[in-house]
Amino acid sequence: MISVALPKGRLGEKAYSLMAAAGYDCPSILEKNRKLTFEDPEKGIRYFWVKPSDVSIYVERGAADVGIAGKDILAEYRPDLYELLDLGIGRCRMCVAGPEGFRDDPDRALRVATKFPHIAEAYYESRSRDIDVIKLNGSIELAPILGLSDVIVDIVETGKTLLENHLATLETIMEISARFVCNKVSYKFKREEVLRLRDALERGL
Ligand code: PRP
Repeated sequence: MISVALPKGRLGEKAYSLMAAAGYDCPSILEKNRKLTFEDPEKGIRYFWVKPSDVSIYVERGAADVGIAGKDILAEYRPDLYELLDLGIGRCRMCVAGPEGFRDDPDRALRVATKFPHIAEAYYESRSRDIDVIKLNGSIELAPILGLSDVIVDIVETGKTLLENHLATLETIMEISARFVCNKVSYKFKREEVLRLRDALERGL
């Protein structure tokens, strides 16, 4: 039995479609209820719905053998696991954004609001720029509008949220997409099943 941590929401539904197309369907998962685990013993597969930012924790600690996690989460938490395949879904960019025409003042620390403090710190450290990180949990775009921060480090998908709040992308930090990830111990002891699943996913891309 292989257990799979899927991120709740749109990305998880797309990821499940890829799994189903690869031959690992489990139709009960599509029923509209609040169950969080589903299994098909014949196919040897068990699914869990977890909060997207928690997928890497379940996989790293072996509560799930494999999972689908965004590169943003992997870059932020740097979990100790294997990244086996880029699924090419959930594509977006991690960006620095701010008021249009923003000019950085090098004489003081740049105030950066973000849900991704480690990504922001690593990015500005590589540019030897001092920052003051303000960790928020959502609606990040509000921070520069209300003067809480100078800029934000956040995900840009369509760019609509920035546009509607009169903000612009200033720099791109990295391209993001969903990755098929595997627990290190599972990779050792369930290698054949894990690689069969990985290869079936790759053929379907
Ligand atoms: C994410 C991100 C941006 C928005 C970008 O927020 O933090 O706010 O999506 O998407 P867009 O470029 O297509 O407009 P999310 O919807 O996860 O909500 P949050 O503000 O609660 O983090």
